[in-house]
This record gives sequence, structure tokens and C-alpha cells, in this order.
Amino acid sequence: MTLEEKVGQMHQIAGNDAVTGPHNPNSNDGEDLRKGLVGSMLNVVGADKTYKYQKIAVEESRLRIPLIFGHDVIHGCKTIFPIPLAESCSWDLDIIELSAQIAAIEASAMGLHWTFAPMVDIARDPRWGRIAEGGGEDTYLASKIAEARVKGFQGNDLGSLNTVAACAKHFAAYGASEAGRDYNQVDISENSLRNIYLPPFKSASDAGVTSFMNAFNVLNGIPATINELLVKSILKEEWKFAGIVVSDYNSIGELIQHGVANDKRESAELAANALCDMDMAGYCYRDHLVELVREGKVAESIIDIAVEKILTLKYRLGLFEDPYRYCKPNRENELLLNKGNRDFARDCARKSIVLLKNNGVLPLTKNSGIKKIALIGPLTESKFDMLGSWYCAGDENDVVSFYEGMKNRFGKDFEINYSKGCEIDSLYKEDFSEAINFAEQSEIIFAYVGEAGLMSGEASCRTDISLPGNQLSLLKELKKTGKPLVVVLSNGRPLEINWLAENADAILETWFLGVEAGNALADIISGDFNPSGKLTVTFPRNMGQIPIYYNHLNTGRPLYENPTEHYRSRYLDSSIEPLFPFGFGLSYTKFEYSNFSLSKNKIAIMEKFIATVDVKNLGAIAGEEIVQLYIHDKVATISRPVKELKSFKKIYLASGEMKKVEFNLSAEDFKYYDKNMEWNIEPGKIELFVGPNSEELLMQEIEITN
Ligand code: BGC
Repeated sequence: MTLEEKVGQMHQIAGNDAVTGPHNPNSNDGEDLRKGLVGSMLNVVGADKTYKYQKIAVEESRLRIPLIFGHDVIHGCKTIFPIPLAESCSWDLDIIELSAQIAAIEASAMGLHWTFAPMVDIARDPRWGRIAEGGGEDTYLASKIAEARVKGFQGNDLGSLNTVAACAKHFAAYGASEAGRDYNQVDISENSLRNIYLPPFKSASDAGVTSFMNAFNVLNGIPATINELLVKSILKEEWKFAGIVVSDYNSIGELIQHGVANDKRESAELAANALCDMDMAGYCYRDHLVELVREGKVAESIIDIAVEKILTLKYRLGLFEDPYRYCKPNRENELLLNKGNRDFARDCARKSIVLLKNNGVLPLTKNSGIKKIALIGPLTESKFDMLGSWYCAGDENDVVSFYEGMKNRFGKDFEINYSKGCEIDSLYKEDFSEAINFAEQSEIIFAYVGEAGLMSGEASCRTDISLPGNQLSLLKELKKTGKPLVVVLSNGRPLEINWLAENADAILETWFLGVEAGNALADIISGDFNPSGKLTVTFPRNMGQIPIYYNHLNTGRPLYENPTEHYRSRYLDSSIEPLFPFGFGLSYTKFEYSNFSLSKNKIAIMEKFIATVDVKNLGAIAGEEIVQLYIHDKVATISRPVKELKSFKKIYLASGEMKKVEFNLSAEDFKYYDKNMEWNIEPGKIELFVGPNSEELLMQEIEITN
């Protein structure tokens, strides 16, 4: 390969099937493809479209090296599943893995080889729109989800037609963007970096993820794309990650705006020397890397290693054997959005819904005496919003809206009246009267409110996370009718919903549920499926509490020790407690926890022990429960969180059934990065908690001895 051809492999260009960054259509792209100066494309979707470009690369370029097509397949490809934050609320690693697997099958049938997923950024700030793309605020759960998603996308064999390469992003700490504003700087300690933000990436690396993506943000003064601590020390040296590192969209070019490079040439030099193997849509490598190598500013060995990795991935995907193997239209027709995928999407969606409140109005059954129901609100009929952000090849015409779901399920049994009432984000009130009228004539109101699908996701941050527009005013008017009010929320982040928590009769958090939204919700409302989702992110009482998360430190003056004393960690004008805590979610049945016990009271560092708890279904119907286990390291060399999730089990209990739930643990599970940044656990006492959420917990204590 000539040096130009090698650098070409490190250059990724964007097609036009999606716009995912500042678009810079380059007139030389076609010519570059022919000259073998492009290694990869993103944002080209479909068997026919990828075929067109692949043909140029393999039939017109000198070396005939196939292109690798990457795309954001985030929560489904054609069959759109719930957004990742929603799916995380299922705490169901099997369905999370399977949804990634189905997404991979569909993506591969659409000519794609590489997904820019999973996004594994921990996020504690609901203002940040990209909280929707991840697995919530908790490091342990997000690490498990990262592993499941990598396995789902990649399977056991990248050479199989049904798998795609995965990409852990955004490396790293992007979720800590200051003030919840996208692309903003991140300034955190190495302690937080290692204990909170990095473990999901480590988990993806351990699961064999083939690539990592740099983050847009500056981390502690140095842009992540050229951050040596991140890429050289941690990713390569400590974790021995041997796969590809791709920049984020023009994140190499943006080193200029970050103020660490004068021009694109310097950007290219910095990024290549920081071991970024591929320049996504930045044209910095294309325009300058050859020259930089010739001048000795970048060692050719760096280029060789990057190219070897890129070619190896293409080889593993079978592209050298048959560059067209992923772009066969018949496969596309057969596999996309088939019945099996839809059925699975429905199951995934109903498991993602979280019941936040219910004073008995749900489930809605034929015997309730109710005859007329009113469906109100701007999200009732919406299809597009159900797709959420990053909807890939999803099409709103394939979505079952809430309205359709209600009609399908209840149309025969009830009279259903619908009025939109208001728009999602407008101050117009003229349509309130019709909605109120319908509500008055009905015996129960279902109000479908929340955010538009694109109010979260990239570059979609909000300072005000209450219900947009006039939706709350509409709900207040509906409440005045005195009819039971069931609120169905669609949103990509926790919202500020105090009034609802006090005044609604039931609240269902549905996030954005994907193509089967309406049917899945009807399954829950009817009681055909008992809700089992639990929040993976804390809901604040008000915006001033942000960031608020369950695994905080104790402070030296915790309020609970002496609530009447002035000098305590509190707000004068608000509670410090969340509205809904991490791990919270209701069911139509009730579970009782008892007999929490440990097999030992003292263990040596390597010794194993078992924590057991009895969980009983007290209600008349079967249900699933997510049993959560937390710890608190009471005394350590650094202050440790008041609670940290360390394990969980999702169990099914028939009515009246009791199960003994066992957790096999050892002190290994309690390790963390200590003050010397060593992965360690010191002797001492650990409190263990078990329960249905991060607040209602039973406790035991174990001592770790030397
Ligand atoms: C996003 C990435 C995405 C990339 C390619 C960027 O703007 O930050 O998450 O993978 O675009 O679409």
C-alpha cells in the first residue's frame, strides 16, 4: 500500500441518508473512493445504496479494498425498540441483548457492518439530552447493559452475516458535560472518572467490543480525542484494548475550536499521535496525514498499526471474501420489520414501562363499570415521536400510536373519545375546551403528554425539564372535571412532575417505546401485562436539585443525623429527597421482602458468601419483581457512596408465591479505585441492603478481614 492508500483507510466520509453532524459534502469524495483514499463511510443505509459505493471501492480502486459502512443503530434499525434509557428500565439483560441482536440482523441486511453503539455514558443530569441514549445513572447496571449490548450486536462470530461490529462511545465522561449542555467541558476527578464513568467502557472492552469512539468533550482541560490518559494509558496500556479508535464526528477538526490546535494540520498531528485510528468526517487525516508522516511528525508505524486494525476488522467481517455479502436486497426484504421482530419489540416496550403511581384506577378492566373513556393530549396520536431520537431506518408509518393501541385493545368494550387538547410545545389554549368537554362526558381520562421525540438526543438539552408548552395547564383543567386522571408520559429524560405526582390517579412513564408503543401500552393498561419496569435514573423534585442521584456521598453533615440542626446538608426551600428514587417502579401486585440474611458475618478478601432474601407476592395476580442489592463501604481510604448497586435479580412470582433469592458475592465485588487509583478493597465493614428500590431496603453487615 502507498502511504496515501494507508491514510485513506483512516478516512471516513459521510453519505446523505442521515445527517448526524455539521454536513460538509465534499466534491472530491467520489474521486477519493476511486483512488482508494476512503476506508469507511457512515450515514449510507440500505442494501442498494451501500452496494453502489462498495462497487466503486472494489471495482474501480487500485487495491480493491472494501469499504466498511458504519451507522448509528442505537435502538433498533428498521424495527425501532424503546430508546436505550427506556430499555434499561426493564433491567432485563436478556431482552437488551436480544434487541441488539435483532438490530444487528436488520442492520447487516441493510448493508451495514458497524454500529456506533452501545452508548455507555453514565448520565446524572437530565438536562443533557443524550441521557436518552444510555443506560441511566448507575455504573453497575450500565456496565451489565454495555456487556449485553456488545454481545447482542457482535454475537460470537463477526464473520456471521447476522452480526455487526460494535463501538463503545463516547470515550469518556461525555455524560458529565457541565450544566447538562451538550459538548460542554467535563471537569471531574480521576476518582469519579474511574469509579463512576469508566467501568461501562471497561465492561464493553472485556466483552470484546471491536471499537471505541472518542468523545466530543474536553476532559480536565484536554479534549478526549487527544487525551493520553484516556486512550494511551487506560484504554491501551491498562485494558489492553487492541481494536479501533474512531473520532467522533469531526472531533479532530474541532480541536481548533477547543483551542489546542491552530489548524487542521495540527489537529491531525495531535490526533494521530494520540492514537485515534480513524477520522470521522473531519478531513484532517485526508488532507494532512501523508505530509505529517513524510515530515516525521507522525511515525509511519502509527499509521501501519491503525491500518492493520482497520483491515483486520474488514477481514473479520468477511468483506475480503465477498464485499457484497451484506448488500443483498432479498435478505433485506425478508428480515426487516418482520412479525417476529415486531412481537419482540412489543415485549421489550411493555417491559420498559415504569408505573410511577397508581391509586387503584389501573388496570382498566371490562368489569370496572366504566363505559366511556377520554383520550386527551398531544402524544395520543403521535407516531413520529414514539421513535425517539436516533431512529435509524425507522419509519413513523410503521408505528402503532397510543390511540391505535387503545382502539385495538378497548374499542369493543368502551366508547373512546379523543381530543388533542394542545400541542406539545405551544402556548395556544383554544383546543382545551373540546378536550375538557370529552373528559366531562367520560368516566376516566387518559392524558398522553410529555416531550417531542427530538427534544432529547444529541444537541437537544433543556434548562427547564417540566412539561413543555401548555400541557400542565391542560392537565390541571382536566383534573377539575373530577374524573380519574391517568397520565401517560413520553419523554427522553426524567421530567419535573411534582404536580402530577400529587394529583394524577396513575402515572405511567413510557419514555419513547418504538414501533409497538400503542400495543405495549395497551397491554399494561389492560393488565394483560403486569408492569415491572424500574427507574434507572432519579426523578428530581425540582430543577434546583440537579444533579441528583442515589449513589451520592454522605457529606460530613448529613441531614438525617439531625434534621433540626441548622448546619446540615440541605436546601432551605426544598427537600433534598428525590421525587422518585433510582430503582423505583410499581406493579399491580405487592411484593413483601423478609428474612434478609448472610451466610457469613466475616469473610477474608477472596472468600465467597451468599446473601439471601425471601420475596413474596402478596397480591392476587402474578408479576415480575426486580430485587436489588446495594452496598455501603462504611470506612475506606476515600469517601464511598451511601449506596451502590452491586447485584440484582429479576424474578417471576405467581400470586401468593414466595421465592428465596440468592446473591453469590465476594469482597471482589466491592472493589473500587482507591486513593492511589488502585483497584482495591480494604478490610472493614460493609453494609448490605436489599429491596425493591434504592430507598426501601433491609440491611445486614459483613466484615472483611485481612
Ligand atoms: C455523535 C455520535 C455518532 C456520530 C455519527 C456524532 O455527532 O456524537 O454519537 O455516532 O455523530 O453519527
